Amino acid sequence: MANSAYHKIRTVRAPAPRGCPVDHAFSPFAPEYVANPYAVLAKHRDGSPIFYCEQLGYLVITRMKDVAAVFTNPDVFSSENVQDPVLPICDAAAEVLSAADYDPIAVMSNRPRPDHTRIRKYTQAGFSGRRIRALTPYVRERCETLVEGMLESGAPVEFVANIGHPLPGETIFRLLGFPRDDDAQIQEWTTNRLAFTWGNATEDEQVEIARKMLAYWRYCVSFVQHRHQVPADDFTSELLAAHDADPADLSYKEVESVVYGLSFAGHEIVSNFLGNALICLLSRRENWEAICTDPTLIPNALEEVLRFNSPQTSWRRVAARDTQIGGFKVPAGTQIFLSLGAANHDGDLYENPETFDIRRKNARTHISFGRGIHFCLGNRLALLEARITLETLVERVPSLRLVEGQALDYFPNFTFRGPKELWLQW
Ligand code: HEM
Repeated sequence: MANSAYHKIRTVRAPAPRGCPVDHAFSPFAPEYVANPYAVLAKHRDGSPIFYCEQLGYLVITRMKDVAAVFTNPDVFSSENVQDPVLPICDAAAEVLSAADYDPIAVMSNRPRPDHTRIRKYTQAGFSGRRIRALTPYVRERCETLVEGMLESGAPVEFVANIGHPLPGETIFRLLGFPRDDDAQIQEWTTNRLAFTWGNATEDEQVEIARKMLAYWRYCVSFVQHRHQVPADDFTSELLAAHDADPADLSYKEVESVVYGLSFAGHEIVSNFLGNALICLLSRRENWEAICTDPTLIPNALEEVLRFNSPQTSWRRVAARDTQIGGFKVPAGTQIFLSLGAANHDGDLYENPETFDIRRKNARTHISFGRGIHFCLGNRLALLEARITLETLVERVPSLRLVEGQALDYFPNFTFRGPKELWLQW
């Protein structure tokens, strides 16, 4: 498994570009970064905006203009490395994923052009206005039921486990067409996958996650097979119809791999987004009261959450050939850490970047969904889920507040950021 298209292990590490500042202490796994990446990043962005992270062997880029330039030049800065484990995977977990039938292939974020363009034409259809509109009543009804359950159980309630995690998971399962009866099992298999690739999971955790990944892949394979025989009105059937119409343009394995990959892309990150949104809004009471009085402020407030406290604080690229960034000569093979978090707080673009402002005019120019050919496919779905969650909460529980004195804790993660737990009362 060590070098499957899904989890390639990179053993060669490019040196720091000549003349580039080298930071021996910087690490996205360091406790002070995990607690507050923005304070750590600000020092770099305003001092050495491009530097080499010695501990992990990445060139770190912090200014918006440089991050955007890398995103929009995909032939020079390849996305091939975005699903590779940041830290080596232990042998026992690798052994689990070496099962002969574990064979998903790169289909979206880590698939280069021209194949990416070919496949994205089909995957984009799954997130069309029609499909999103069709999902909307489900998201609203499910959100209302979950909030009702929260109210019935009585304060305090832990938000992540009770609403933040199940809502996005079940939404993506409905889009794909998985039966509702399977939700609990699939949720169990898909939990903690971000820790496998971008976290620093222990060996035991890696093995447990790997076992679940294998079980979930097998589920996807048999679900796709079933849908091929019994199509329904869902995205999986749509992909299979496209495959049947032109098997050379969209292969069966690509359909299986898209189904497998989507829960990965659209599940825990939205859960983190919802948690971060509540932290931003409830810890600044005047903002919560403003959206309670005028819910039309919610869409821009959510863009500001994505700018100010994004669930995705970085993404990666690898130089496909010798190139230059910010005046430094960057050799082919250099891995690049694009700091979305630093770019989103860039004072060249944002007035008072460290202020959370739900009325900020240019909040939407954040780079949390990336830019260019791999721009987040699920952005509208994520925003829909978050808007409905906030609309439901402000209507049903305007007195909602954070349980006072709780210490917010975050999983150490190279890329993704959201509270482990978030306790609410009303
Ligand atoms: C707030 C939530 C989300 C954030 C911040 C986010 C962020 C991102 C980012 C930064 C990228 C990479 C862009 C690049 O490489 O240039 C991306 C790609 C992607 N996202 Fe999201 N995402 C979110 C939610 C979702 C959801 C809900 C789904 C699906 C259900 C999804 C599906 C994808 C897919 C499939 C790609 C790869 C697209 C491609 O390569 O063409 N994302 N996302």
